[in-house]
Amino acid sequence: MEIVILPDDEAVARTAADIVQASLENDSPVLGLATGSTPLGTYSELIRRHCEAGLSFARAQAFTLDEYLGLPAEHPESYRSVIRREFTDSVDLPAHAVHSLDGQAPDPEAEAARYEAAIAGAGGVDVQILGIGTDGHIGFNEPMSSLASRTRIKTLTEQTRRDNARFFPTPEDVPRHVLTQGLGTIREARHILLIGLGEGKASAIAAAVEGPLAAACPASSLQLHPHTTVLVDEGAASRLEHREYYQHALEHKPQWQAY
Ligand code: PGA
Repeated sequence: MEIVILPDDEAVARTAADIVQASLENDSPVLGLATGSTPLGTYSELIRRHCEAGLSFARAQAFTLDEYLGLPAEHPESYRSVIRREFTDSVDLPAHAVHSLDGQAPDPEAEAARYEAAIAGAGGVDVQILGIGTDGHIGFNEPMSSLASRTRIKTLTEQTRRDNARFFPTPEDVPRHVLTQGLGTIREARHILLIGLGEGKASAIAAAVEGPLAAACPASSLQLHPHTTVLVDEGAASRLEHREYYQHALEHKPQWQAY
């Protein structure tokens, strides 16, 4: 893992956008998109570059990470709606190239298998953007998810439901069940960007980066990934024990070594 501690969320957004922008030079770029608050700054920065500098997503495909079970696709809080509203409708990524899980699929297991096949059919994900839950989840892989898991149904922890209640009229409206790419699925992305913003994520980031590899902190499974970049602001970095080393490594990064 490469740990990059940046002064604030704007610097994190610019760095994440640089990495996504570089991946768009591939012939058929495939982006893995997270929802939630964390990547919003990155999406705004990418939209700005599209509008002001002509950055094009026309050849790209995108896959979201997860979806609430039972929410219709057109529900404003379905992740299919959210990713369109917050990002893809504002750039030239063709609507048919934005893939998501169907939270109302009559056979969720078949839907999960379809999604796995669609990701593989697109050639796999080039850059996967990830936020992290306060309980260490990535996607909706809650603690004790199998480190080898594939796309499937999960039950949300009450902590995650409380964390996400801000998006719904009442806490009771937050669905209990979801479909999510598994930890094994996520780790097949060629480059993973794990983003943490604010002190509320400091414990989860410390457990993911410096804690043991353990199902109790699903994000720690990224320790097995050969190319993960962790982008954090000062708040999210505040519980990292080895932050001086991370900064030292960054300052002495050889010129040939990109993110
Ligand atoms: P957040 O959620 O970006 O809204 O903090 C992150 C997550 O739950 O993965």
